Amino acid sequence: MTNTLFYGDNLDILRRKVRDETVDLCYIDPPFNSKRNYFQIYNNVGKDDQAQAQAFIDTWTWNELAIAGYGEIITNFEGRYTRQTIELLKGLKAVLGEGALLAYLISMTQRVNEIQRVLKSTGSFYLHCDPTASHYLKLVLDSVFCARGGDFKDEVIWKRTTAHSDTKNSFSHVTDTIFFYTCDKQAIWNGQYKPHSQKYIGSHYRYKDDGGRVYRLDNIIRSESMGLRPNLSYNYKGFTPPFGWRVKIEKLEDIDSNGRLYWSKKGTPYLIRYLDEQQGEIIDNLWDDIPPLNSQAQERLGYPTQKPEALLERIIQASSNEGDTVLDAYCGCGTSVAVAQRLRRNWIGIDITYQSIAVILKRLEDSFGADVLNTITLDGIPRDLESAKALATKKDDRVRKEFEKWALLTYSKNRATINEKKGADKGIDGVAYFVTGHDQTERVIFQVKSGKVQRNDIATLNSDRQRENAALAIFITLEESTKPMRDEALSAGFYHHALLNRDTPRIQIVTIQEMLEGQRIDLPLSLEVLKTAAPAKGDHQQTLVLE
Ligand SMILES: C[S@@+](CC[C@H](N)C(=O)[O-])C[C@H]1O[C@@H](n2cnc3c(N)ncnc32)[C@H](O)[C@@H]1O
Repeated sequence: MTNTLFYGDNLDILRRKVRDETVDLCYIDPPFNSKRNYFQIYNNVGKDDQAQAQAFIDTWTWNELAIAGYGEIITNFEGRYTRQTIELLKGLKAVLGEGALLAYLISMTQRVNEIQRVLKSTGSFYLHCDPTASHYLKLVLDSVFCARGGDFKDEVIWKRTTAHSDTKNSFSHVTDTIFFYTCDKQAIWNGQYKPHSQKYIGSHYRYKDDGGRVYRLDNIIRSESMGLRPNLSYNYKGFTPPFGWRVKIEKLEDIDSNGRLYWSKKGTPYLIRYLDEQQGEIIDNLWDDIPPLNSQAQERLGYPTQKPEALLERIIQASSNEGDTVLDAYCGCGTSVAVAQRLRRNWIGIDITYQSIAVILKRLEDSFGADVLNTITLDGIPRDLESAKALATKKDDRVRKEFEKWALLTYSKNRATINEKKGADKGIDGVAYFVTGHDQTERVIFQVKSGKVQRNDIATLNSDRQRENAALAIFITLEESTKPMRDEALSAGFYHHALLNRDTPRIQIVTIQEMLEGQRIDLPLSLEVLKTAAPAKGDHQQTLVLE
């Protein structure tokens, strides 16, 4: 499979599109059951207030979806579940009752179960969560992975922020939990290191040789607490340590011939270790060296819950090699996808909202150049009128106005902001800014309609445009436009773009059919509404062949 970005519900996509045992590493950072909704924050353009749009919802309810999911698990649909998972879910229902938490856990169980299926036997799985539900999620993971011969490897604690003084009646919550499981004992593992701290270097590496190289003296003989090992007890250059050496005689001779054996004045031998030859400090499961993305971080894209690239670098480097396939089934603004691309892994990303897909496409374009987009397979995005209609009529409470967002972001080449405002400007689905001069922009407003359209819609849009002080308005419609609508649009006149020396109709009507045939906004849109990802450093661009 080429690098693929899927738009849709990961359960459906995993089941229909991802074959058994094809993935080397999966990292997921799903909603945590935080009972909150998350917003994407845009850059400030012009004098407008900071705009934001809902990105995803993390509130759960006991509804038909949860009931169906529970039924599927306990009846062992298509033999997909382990006995332990079935019994666990029955137990959780008895303990927690039917409610938001159980609905969340059912959704996670179904998806983690599919992820286990698509992982190779050498594969690894990382689940990013927080203490809200981590204790239940670990039970689910045990029942899915360990019951099939997999292993629980680690619970990583990531210090994701610094203490807040506003936490009342409890300690400040500053950590996330990352569970690490493998499918069997042969899983890929590359130990990770971080540079030694200056404090450690100061206290351990206290010597310098004639060439200025910093070194320390390490033990080469066994201590009393290690006990005597008869096969390591031998005489070397007249010295026999009371509990033996730490290495065999051949190795010791090698060390000595390389000038790495040091004899103290008292006649005790030591091993010379040079600082510049050490890998650094081995990474343990307490990660307090990866700082959060603060508001000024260059990486920050305005997408909620964005994780630092350094976090994903560590995970991807530890549990995969170049050319391996990395899956993120909840990819948000695409941190794992961007890091996998940079580290020359193949990748599969899935997200249920088009907003996320749009941010990822722009992030990849900014980081790796526009050509990278030709190497990606996009799946689940409407390609014909029939699938566009299906998106428009989709009933899914978890995602709102997906058809409108898809049409708006696609037509604006991922450069419009989604309008969340209520009230007077309710009819406006999005806003973009086009460049009219040095540091000067004008606004263009969008309205997207999936139902019946008529002349009046165009008249209303024009008055919205005037009220909003927008130079242009674009009406995107699933239905064909009528002649009275087109006449009404023409009657709004033209905008003269001085820089381009061109007249553009103030009201433009675009059909979804035209958009599907490739029509896009033809104006120099300001890139500033979405934060720009920094170009990837180094020669990490990867060219993959389209399927
Ligand atoms: C916490 S965010 C992930 C953030 C990501 N790690 C990053 O660094 O940008 C969770 C994402 O999961 C997506 N999501 C939620 N439910 C989903 C589902 N059933 N299928 C696919 N994506 C889903 C949301 O749209 C959201 O973008």
